[in-house]
Amino acid sequence: HWTAEEKQIINAIWSKTDVGPTGGEALATLLVVYPWTQRFFPDFGNLSSATAICGNPKVRAHGKKVLTAFGDAIKNLDNIKQTFAKLSELHCDKLHVDPENFKLLGDVLIIVLASHLGKEFTPAYHAAFHKLVRVVAHALAHRYH
Ligand code: HEM
Repeated sequence: HWTAEEKQIINAIWSKTDVGPTGGEALATLLVVYPWTQRFFPDFGNLSSATAICGNPKVRAHGKKVLTAFGDAIKNLDNIKQTFAKLSELHCDKLHVDPENFKLLGDVLIIVLASHLGKEFTPAYHAAFHKLVRVVAHALAHRYH
């Protein structure tokens, strides 16, 4: 259900994305802008301010993990549900993350990518990546359906 153009755009965005810093920035932004998401990370230490969150090494490390998983989705665009079957079990059955939060993380990721890519981030880029983050959120929430 992807057009050739969408695939090309998603891969172009991904080839310019450094999963470490971008993942850290995206997760940190989630925790700052949607502070209730902090409750899922009680072992992450100091999340008391935006500065603390952005400088927190556990936030960065976990953000990298999350974005690496996004990379797995991009490598398996036609098979995202199966690719995330185990992660869906973890987030739904074990962590009980409200699926609305998967959408929030996707939206934050779009903002971070747009801020990195600048003018190159056209409406077509936004549309293709928005579709991707929604498919990923849907796949992660699959166990709730
Ligand atoms: C763990 C991916 C969203 C909460 C993980 C792990 C991955 C991952 C790869 C590590 C799994 C492992 O260690 O085997 C993703 C992806 C997301 C996402 C691709 C995209 C939407 C979220 C959201 C929350 C969340 C929105 C909560 C607000 C957690 C927690 C853990 C975890 C609490 C366990 C952390 C730990 O203690 O190590 N996630 N995640 N995730 N995720 Fe997510």
